[in-house]
Amino acid sequence: MAHQIGIVGGDGIGPEVIAQGLKVIDAAGVELNAVHYDLGGNRYARDGLVLTDEIVDEWRGLDAIYLGAVGTPDVPPGLIERGLLLKMRFDLDLYINLRPFSCGPDTANSSTVFGPDAEFDFVVIRENTEGAYAGEGGFLRKHTAHEIATQGSVNTHIGVQRCVHFAFELAMERRKHVTLVHKTNVLNFAGDLWERTFNTVAEEFPQVTTTYNHVDAACIYFVDDPFRYDVIVTDNLFGDILTDLGGAVSGGIGFAASANIHPGMVSMFEPVHGSAPDIAGSGKANPTAAILSGALMLDHLGEHQAAERIRAACSNPETLKGSTKEIGDMIAARL
Ligand code: NAI
Ligand code: MG
Repeated sequence: MAHQIGIVGGDGIGPEVIAQGLKVIDAAGVELNAVHYDLGGNRYARDGLVLTDEIVDEWRGLDAIYLGAVGTPDVPPGLIERGLLLKMRFDLDLYINLRPFSCGPDTANSSTVFGPDAEFDFVVIRENTEGAYAGEGGFLRKHTAHEIATQGSVNTHIGVQRCVHFAFELAMERRKHVTLVHKTNVLNFAGDLWERTFNTVAEEFPQVTTTYNHVDAACIYFVDDPFRYDVIVTDNLFGDILTDLGGAVSGGIGFAASANIHPGMVSMFEPVHGSAPDIAGSGKANPTAAILSGALMLDHLGEHQAAERIRAACSNPETLKGSTKEIGDMIAARL
């Protein structure tokens, strides 16, 4: 049965890399019933539409959304990010941001720090709807010398619990280790809630071993010793920063894939990179990040075998050189 998918190619290199992802999914033998949505900076410039509640309601009936990248130089920064990407995350309650980082001869990535033979494989689970990104705060006495701006971090028990629970469930399918990353020594309210919730959920998973890292120490380990990690769970802000570092030490932006998930509901899959207006139309965009994001989408759709085959087809990246389309064709041919 064909899966119902919403496609948002978006701007710049977004549609170019998504076209390769769709071709590879087709080559893997998975049938998609795709509906294309013309959204992003170009659409906004044309008629002012960013994203409507009606479109979000349509998406609720889909199995997944596959997104390239959105944003154009002429649209004010923040407008599309908040109006489209954040609205999508909040309205569809996509509370898990999942980013895998694996390096080694059998993967698409090679460690920027340790070289092509180094092997590591970890996943960051970032809470995606709360924390410092929830929009709590405001201004007092704005534009005066006595201006005050606050930006609170919102952490609900239910929000933290469902995120931590997802991380432990995932660890059960992997090497059964979960690391909590926070800053409990200084953020003593939010950190306390996270730590207590983490410890309570851990009791449900006696086979899973656990570790705690302060976020600053985790930054050192990402560069020095990423081999220690299996599943990492952390809050929205720390996760945003850590996953960029993760991408930088594991092959770079052309390979970083991500999933925005609400388990059992419509979820969104996108490469970490943006619309790259500097290389749009030149054929220089690496489609691997979008293709690997497509594999994450297939995992969500229950098509695990096809997802594994796509990941295997992306390995040995040094043999995958060429234009965006040529790389996509080579990966598709391996299937
Ligand atoms: P960017 O990720 O688009 O580009 C940063 C650098 O990486 C550029 O030099 C670009 O050429 C290169 N690059 C990115 N993807 C690549 C790929 N697949 N292959 C080879 N090189 C690649 O980030 P930037 O320049 O900060 O943002 C450009 C636009 O994208 C902005 O409008 C921004 O708001 C938007 N953006 C959208 C995101 C999304 O849709 N989720 C995420 C990040 C940025
Ligand atoms: Mg980021």
